[in-house]
Amino acid sequence: MPNVVVIGTQWGDEGKGKIVDLLTSQAQHIVRFQGGNNAGHTLVVKGDKYIFHLLPSGILHQDKVCYIGNGVVVDPLVLIEELDRLAQKGIQVGPEHLVISQRAHIIMPYHQALDNAKEKKAGGAAIGTTGRGIGPCYMDKVGRVGIRFIDLLHPAVFKERVLANLEEKNFLLKEYYQTETLDPGPIIESYSAAAERLAPYGGNVPLALEQAQRSGDNILFEGAQGTHLDIDHGTYPYVTSSNPVAGSVSAGAGVGPTRIKSVVGLVKAYTTRVGGGPFVTELEDENGMHLQKVGNEYGSTTGRPRRCGWLDLVAVAEAVRLSGITSLALTKLDVLTGLEKLKICTAYELDGREIRHMPPLLEDLARCKPVYKTISGWNEDISKAREIAALPPAARDFVQTVEDLAGCPISHVSVGPDRDETIVTGEVY
Ligand code: GDP
Ligand code: IMO
Ligand code: MG
Repeated sequence: MPNVVVIGTQWGDEGKGKIVDLLTSQAQHIVRFQGGNNAGHTLVVKGDKYIFHLLPSGILHQDKVCYIGNGVVVDPLVLIEELDRLAQKGIQVGPEHLVISQRAHIIMPYHQALDNAKEKKAGGAAIGTTGRGIGPCYMDKVGRVGIRFIDLLHPAVFKERVLANLEEKNFLLKEYYQTETLDPGPIIESYSAAAERLAPYGGNVPLALEQAQRSGDNILFEGAQGTHLDIDHGTYPYVTSSNPVAGSVSAGAGVGPTRIKSVVGLVKAYTTRVGGGPFVTELEDENGMHLQKVGNEYGSTTGRPRRCGWLDLVAVAEAVRLSGITSLALTKLDVLTGLEKLKICTAYELDGREIRHMPPLLEDLARCKPVYKTISGWNEDISKAREIAALPPAARDFVQTVEDLAGCPISHVSVGPDRDETIVTGEVY
């Protein structure tokens, strides 16, 4: 009956998809609770690669049930594409395997248009969003003019909302952003077809999850993005528009905080960031190039190169605090192989003082200098290691340093992209 949350402790792309897929063997229900198709979660199973943007990463296990919670923003056309791509690989996902919250908000074409227009107008000050319409969709949700999955399923309600919203959005697109406006006709047509296709998947997620708990099943909650992209706690305004912290499970899936047993925080053995914003440990030298090349650090959603830097434990420790993380899963340790010296940021220096938190003022964060602990690297191939004892001493030292300085035990060490390339050092269920 225990329920576990998986979240990112950095700026996303920590390997959440891989670890969720791995932990799915111990759960019967897998739930996305925030974000949308700005996420790109990669799974590698026996050499086969899958990237999911909206479908929970448990979807490959055909005896499990996956859920898209009310806190997620859903692009129905992208969801259908994902279902079709799986069907082409012989994996049929029926309504018995996927439940979409009737209360989840829908991403509309005008959200994408506004996202892109806004970014274009911002020029050098752009956030570097994924252009998927995430921000404008959450803006409409909070502004109480959003369209929910249940509204999409009711043609008259849907049409009325689209017409009302387009009046305002087209005004903005034309007059303020000086870009093309959108016609309601094709939107209503394509979304109505999507509604027909997706209608069988609509359901009451909190009710279903309560029944699952009563029958003694385990639930796994899959976070998207990462702690420092959190709208409240991240490097605002260079953040996403949802709350990737663990507390968001309750609001975004409709499950009370008393139902959560543990929170697994994903930590990449170095740091990456896609898009703009300060990055204290960023590297622009050959070490950074090594991380990008060996780590294949290109966005799973947009294909953009990810900015790379040393592991920042100030950021990770803050994530541990913010989400009450009970264990860490350290990923991509294998990517560090071959680097002579490794650095780990243990504090920031700001105006001659050492601090161990991220300052809220962006300009202060941008002025922070990393304080590093340097440790030795290793050259041995570690991808075959399945226990800590099989790692070279320098790699063990790295793992121990993360555990000590983040102040949290490590439950998993990932040494390759495949489901099997994992060292399990602790139980989370
Ligand atoms: P997510 O968004 O947190 O699910 O992470 P992404 O899928 O965007 O990015 C993580 C990338 O690293 C994917 O390509 C994974 O296949 C890959 N990956 C995950 N764990 C490991 C690992 O331990 N070693 C290596 N080399 N690759 C990994
Ligand atoms: P996963 O789940 C990395 C970043 C974007 C941009 C900012 C805002 O794969 O870890 P948005 O489109 O959300 O309004 O963009 O957030 N971003 C991510 N970066 N991984 C992600 O998801 C991200 N989702 C959004 O690059 O800087
Ligand atoms: Mg990703």
